[in-house]
Amino acid sequence: MNGTPAIPAPRGIPLVGNTPQIPPDRPIQYITEVGRHYPEGVLSMEIGGLEQVFVADPDLAAEVCDEARFGKVIAPPLSHLRDFVGSGLFTARDDEEVWGQAHRILTPAFSQRSMKAYFPQMLDVAQELVRTWEAAGARPVNVSDDMTRLTLDTIGLCGFGHRFDSFRSEELDPFLQAMLRALTEVMNRTRHMPLVTRLRLVEDRTYQQSIRQMRQLVDRVIEQRRRSGETGRDDLLGLMMEATDPVTGRRLDDANVRDQTLTFLIAGHEATSGLLSFAL
Ligand code: HEM
Repeated sequence: MNGTPAIPAPRGIPLVGNTPQIPPDRPIQYITEVGRHYPEGVLSMEIGGLEQVFVADPDLAAEVCDEARFGKVIAPPLSHLRDFVGSGLFTARDDEEVWGQAHRILTPAFSQRSMKAYFPQMLDVAQELVRTWEAAGARPVNVSDDMTRLTLDTIGLCGFGHRFDSFRSEELDPFLQAMLRALTEVMNRTRHMPLVTRLRLVEDRTYQQSIRQMRQLVDRVIEQRRRSGETGRDDLLGLMMEATDPVTGRRLDDANVRDQTLTFLIAGHEATSGLLSFAL
């Protein structure tokens, strides 16, 4: 229409687009495989009623990371994630002032000095892993579950002074189970048309329950810190509760502290445990 060539797209199914072609248990692998058939390194798919563009080429990936030309769009699945992490850093929209505030308040928690300060806690959790694997002897271990325990316990302890003590239990922490249920539902909602989501009442009830469960844990973590009377801690929670944004002079409000806490508990362990599992 305006002379711009259309982005190549695999043929979908009339009305429902590419959604039914994507296996629910391996969406990323599927899209990666399809991407190999597009030597231009860019393709578009219609998923859940939305046209989504994927790049499969390092130069194009670098190009779309140019913040001067592209912004972060909070479309599904991120827009669904807002159901439980609201305007946390991961899901805040570009135009929300709170992103800048939280970013400026929290940056010191990622300085080299802070990283060094977290080291004893990181070592503490790593030793728990080593002890667990030593005790397993010749029995096989579940690497990806144990990496999840390792990284959740690490972010919990370094960021929030909270001990999940995941290695003491055979089952993954109830927080993790609630999170996995909620994330799975987010991915299902991304594939479904909005009408289908509205009709899945049982799934919605489980979803809302999982969100409540995660928030209860977060409230407990914040409450523990308040009751401890500790001040001046420069971990994530300490900064969120006490520090003021150098630009606006404002603190994060309670609802945002809760959203950020949940964001960090999820974002701080999930990708890290995936990376470690693959590396091992
Ligand atoms: C191997 C480890 C990690 C990988 C591969 C990873 C990957 C990513 C990616 C790709 C994004 C951008 C997502 C987007 O904009 O759509 C992101 C954002 C984010 N990650 Fe990670 N991450 C890792 C570790 C962590 C850790 C340890 C933390 C917290 C302690 C963390 C917290 C966050 C947060 C808060 C954001 C949102 C940032 C913003 O937009 O302001 N991540 N991560």
